[in-house]
Amino acid sequence: MCGIVGYVGKKPVVDILLDGLEQLEYRGYDSSGIAIKTATSIDVYKAEGKLANLRDVLRPNADKITQSTMGIGHIRWATHGAPTVLNAHPHTCNCGNLVVVHNGIIENYKELRSELEAEGCTFRSQTDTETVSHLVASIYAEVKDLTKAVQIATKKIEGAYALCIMHNNEPEKLVVTKRNAPLLIGVGEGEFFVASDVPAIIKHTKKAIYLTDNQVATLTPNSLKIENEKEEEIEPKVEVLPWEPVALSKMGYKHFMLKEIHEQPDVIRNILVGKLHTSNSPIVLNEVKLNKETLKNLNRIQVIACGTSLHAAMIGKYIIENFCEIPVDVEASSEYIYRKTVTDEHTLVIGVSQSGETADTLTAIKQSKARGSHILIITNRPDSAMAREADSLVPVSAGIEVSVAATKSYIAQLTSFYLLALYMAEIKGTMAQSDLTNLKAEMLLLPQKIEQILAHKEEIQTCARKYANTRDFIYIARGINYPTALEGALKLKEISYINATGYPAGELKHGPIAMLDETMPVLSVLMKGSVYEKILSNSEEAKARNARMIALTNSTDAKLDDLFDFIIRVPEVTELLSPIVAMIPLQLIAYYIAEFLGKDVDQPRNLAKSVTVE
Ligand code: AGP
Repeated sequence: MCGIVGYVGKKPVVDILLDGLEQLEYRGYDSSGIAIKTATSIDVYKAEGKLANLRDVLRPNADKITQSTMGIGHIRWATHGAPTVLNAHPHTCNCGNLVVVHNGIIENYKELRSELEAEGCTFRSQTDTETVSHLVASIYAEVKDLTKAVQIATKKIEGAYALCIMHNNEPEKLVVTKRNAPLLIGVGEGEFFVASDVPAIIKHTKKAIYLTDNQVATLTPNSLKIENEKEEEIEPKVEVLPWEPVALSKMGYKHFMLKEIHEQPDVIRNILVGKLHTSNSPIVLNEVKLNKETLKNLNRIQVIACGTSLHAAMIGKYIIENFCEIPVDVEASSEYIYRKTVTDEHTLVIGVSQSGETADTLTAIKQSKARGSHILIITNRPDSAMAREADSLVPVSAGIEVSVAATKSYIAQLTSFYLLALYMAEIKGTMAQSDLTNLKAEMLLLPQKIEQILAHKEEIQTCARKYANTRDFIYIARGINYPTALEGALKLKEISYINATGYPAGELKHGPIAMLDETMPVLSVLMKGSVYEKILSNSEEAKARNARMIALTNSTDAKLDDLFDFIIRVPEVTELLSPIVAMIPLQLIAYYIAEFLGKDVDQPRNLAKSVTVE
């Protein structure tokens, strides 16, 4: 949700900022901008839309700025004000001497804006951020010290922010600070980098300092000073980042999403290595600190997540309750944090997040931690803010996911939930040995089953083309695959903008059935098992209302041929593991529909990969 970068050192700054922003484009792509310190002034360049537009704006100005060695940059996901050039960051004060880039939301911006307007400041944008540039500039006019001005200003600001600020009168100085938003400082030789996330700096340095809330750091090419809220200097804690620079490539695929869908067999293999050796060996989760005693003392589990991770959490509930006999509640983090939530030291709280930075989930985790719950985090980013709050960690190891629509991270989260549930069941002794062995044996076969589906993707492409020109789409399922229907619908909505909804199949007759006619595609997730016959009946009900029926099934039942207009077949799999197998065709259907409609598959409109505002 917005990305910020900054650099102060001896190297030409423009490419460092643009490369950094490119790495952060997953955080938003509504607009971008940079501010460069030149010998006499601060020059600001901005563009609407993707970063490529900013590169076009900069081209004719290249000679003017190539020698500059200090600057800040921003990539925006709009919260306050439309995605226009005027609302793009960096924002300046009226004299143009101070520039600010910001990630977060200034909650009291209206009050601050009124006060600053009364003092004579003229606002040009509709953003909350512009209040920060005027506020810091007006304090600077009195105190004549940028660090001091930022310290005073942040005491007046309410909300979440990561800020990087420079002033024309302080030619070799960046001041950065944060509260409830990610920010790290990369440490180089005679240079410092600032970024919202590691990929923006890893090419330049592996040494970094994670700023904590309310600290203010002052950076010059050869000095770093970090002060806490009481303005006491503190010793910086420099960490070595466990990252290697990776060149992100589509490897010949048309989009990152398609490449990431194809990576899923290997993602599962990688996760299982070291954790599940054979069907007879126990599950190994080294960073999970739950023992017999702690599990005995638990009376419930609460899982919190957003979006795709929430759907993984819903399947997690199903399998943990089934394997471990512990009651599990699942809730969207954004709902969880604004009510009286009852958790205590007898509750295990599981946070699920690809990015490990999602603001709602992070806040929920912090609230539960304060109430004494054991915090277990399932994340693709073991270096994230959520992972740093964790008592136990399950790293999902899906590798970097570039496409905004989550695919491989979802399959990785599901795989991790199975491992965790089996791990707890082994400790608690709640599963028969034969069931454990059979399930583990089937898990080891999952990568091959996904490969079989991918080998027949043309059939799914045909299905996608047949139904691409529809306004609405309904997915139905029951039991463990109800979240599969929700996730299938979310994937389609995100990248094709078709109004897709997932329903528990049994709920269709309680209202949604009114929408059915000969124009409406209804996709039934019809996996063999406890609810197969029930979904079949619900599909009959939809067929009777002339809906265009599609089956996603592992059944070879001949009677399906009369009922469904299109059948997508997947390999045989036990019902308990079917959500992993069933999801692959649904990802492909969403992908092929969006691709056929010519949509921006990897960067769909209005979205960002990491949502760091509540
Ligand atoms: C998935 O395709 C999404 N774009 C989105 O719903 C995402 O899952 C959600 O924002 C949660 O993100 P997280 O997993 O990084 O916490």
